[in-house]
Amino acid sequence: MKNPFSGGRVYCGSLRDEDIGKRVTVCGWVAKSRNLGGLIFTDVRDREGIAQCVFDQTENAELFDRAFALRTEFTVRISGTVRLRSSINEKIPTGRVEILADELEIFAAAQTTPFEISDEISVNDALRLKYRYLDLRRPSLQRNLALRHRVTQLARRYFDEQGFFEIETPVLTKSTPEGARDYLVPSRVHPGEFYALPQSPQQYKQLLMLAGFDRYIQIARCFRDEDLRYDRQPEFTQIDLEMSFAGVDDVIAVNEGFIQLLMREIKGVEVELPLRRMTYAEAMRRFGSDKPDLRFGLELCDISDLCAGCGFGVFENAVAGGGSAIAIRVPEGGERLSRKEIDSLGEYVKTYRAKGLAWYKSAKNGEHSSSFAKFMTPEALDAVLKRTGTEPGDLLLCVSDTDTELAQNALGALRCEVARRLDMIPEGRWELLWITEFPMFEYGEDDDGVGRLYAKHHPFTAPMDEDLALFETAPEKMRAKAYDIVLNGTELGGGSIRIHDPVVQEKMFAALGFSHEAANERFGHLINAFKYGAPPHGGLAYGLDRIIMHMAGTENIRDVIAFPKVQNASDLMMDCPSPVDEKQLRELSIRVELEKK
Ligand code: AMO
Repeated sequence: MKNPFSGGRVYCGSLRDEDIGKRVTVCGWVAKSRNLGGLIFTDVRDREGIAQCVFDQTENAELFDRAFALRTEFTVRISGTVRLRSSINEKIPTGRVEILADELEIFAAAQTTPFEISDEISVNDALRLKYRYLDLRRPSLQRNLALRHRVTQLARRYFDEQGFFEIETPVLTKSTPEGARDYLVPSRVHPGEFYALPQSPQQYKQLLMLAGFDRYIQIARCFRDEDLRYDRQPEFTQIDLEMSFAGVDDVIAVNEGFIQLLMREIKGVEVELPLRRMTYAEAMRRFGSDKPDLRFGLELCDISDLCAGCGFGVFENAVAGGGSAIAIRVPEGGERLSRKEIDSLGEYVKTYRAKGLAWYKSAKNGEHSSSFAKFMTPEALDAVLKRTGTEPGDLLLCVSDTDTELAQNALGALRCEVARRLDMIPEGRWELLWITEFPMFEYGEDDDGVGRLYAKHHPFTAPMDEDLALFETAPEKMRAKAYDIVLNGTELGGGSIRIHDPVVQEKMFAALGFSHEAANERFGHLINAFKYGAPPHGGLAYGLDRIIMHMAGTENIRDVIAFPKVQNASDLMMDCPSPVDEKQLRELSIRVELEKK
């Protein structure tokens, strides 16, 4: 980091050997100050690091006396001459030098903070977030936000060079069907009516394509009222982009360039292009996930065809019912996982709605135990062991279900859990891939429990050309021109080529169960716009927060957001959401009636 200041001021964290002999000024917070009798050592901290400042009684007694007052988190300005330390600290970049102080200004005193400003101590999350401005002083969070800044600047630079215009879209808008609940904002001017905060700028960016801005990008804030998770916040940021006259390969090519640049500049990793592509069907079949983590093996192995007449009713029934029996071989798992641990894996798959986990545990000496082997004919068991390549010492884990996707999902999750427990995930590996050819639809139930088709991505996603005819016959089999970019088992971003033909869009709305009128009421603006010459277009949105999580190596999305929300979607520092004045409510024509719990 270059010092942006004039007049000799430098960042604390910038001091190095080459500054020795220079007179400098630092401003920051006192990280610690200790009096060693005749010498006071004060560490001053700013966003770039720590500078050790020394007040020497023999050099300047008056200054030494004033430095006596320094306490942790006081804000100060200290000037002095940089010199080599007598005792060097190789652990920090500024650890070879110190400032012999000749001036001190104390800007503000500080009360004792509710917790120590340090990455080394563990503090209760609620307390941290209540005092987030203090929490943010910690070096790790300072680093994460600096990284976030670098990534957004990189995105702006890259997409600008590729001819993208940065265009802002409204935050007060109309409900967008991205699948989550909307945050609503009441209108004062239109009593009883509401804006919705955008779940994404999806429709606006398509309208920008129709308006002729053929390459758009926005670092866009999105709002989704959904349950929070380690990688999910109710308000989050997308790097959102859209391109006209572009097909799947065009969108992918531009984005691979960005990912390559990101990995090079931020991680110093050279990514080879083109990235691997895998269809959704293959990803589900081999890894039980549409965001497979390819840093380890443990691939799924379909054993359904070996199950007819195998003797084990659970497998037989699942397959006879149109489903599958699928296995994972865990190399050396028979030696490394106890019965108790296998039972806990059984509980684990139940959280993915699997009915149970069948297992075969073998030892290196040839002994084995199993939950299902005794029911199977020796031939069928032999065939299963052969198909899965099970060797003495291995563990075989199987899930069967009449719903193949359920079994795949459960094993997809189990695969990652086993890899974690057995420490099979290598550090420093970056496995990037595109998942393509997503299904157009997924089956779900509405609020009244009625089954219907939902858009897997969103209702503007174009079907694959070869599947168009299936709208009329078997929409559930249709594949979309949709793609996700996946890194180490996380979906970093997703997008699609959009429908630009009004006839196809109409069919899409019909398949989703919207009447002509209902579709017009909700999406009339878009449907109309398509009547005036629509370019073929498509795009993608990255979850910026998720990208930063990976680049920063943190497991919690809160570590990369300055002011995040907690699990119940509240902001503990601002203490919101919170009640508002009666007067404000009256202006909005709103009366609040809380239901008794
Ligand atoms: P999608 O809904 O897949 O696509 O979102 C794109 C990316 O945004 C991130 N993301 C989130 N990050 C944090 N917290 C959340 N609650 C959250 N929800 C999503 C994910 C995801 O991959 N309009 C389309 C994109 C397009 O088609 O161009 C869209 O929003 O990393």
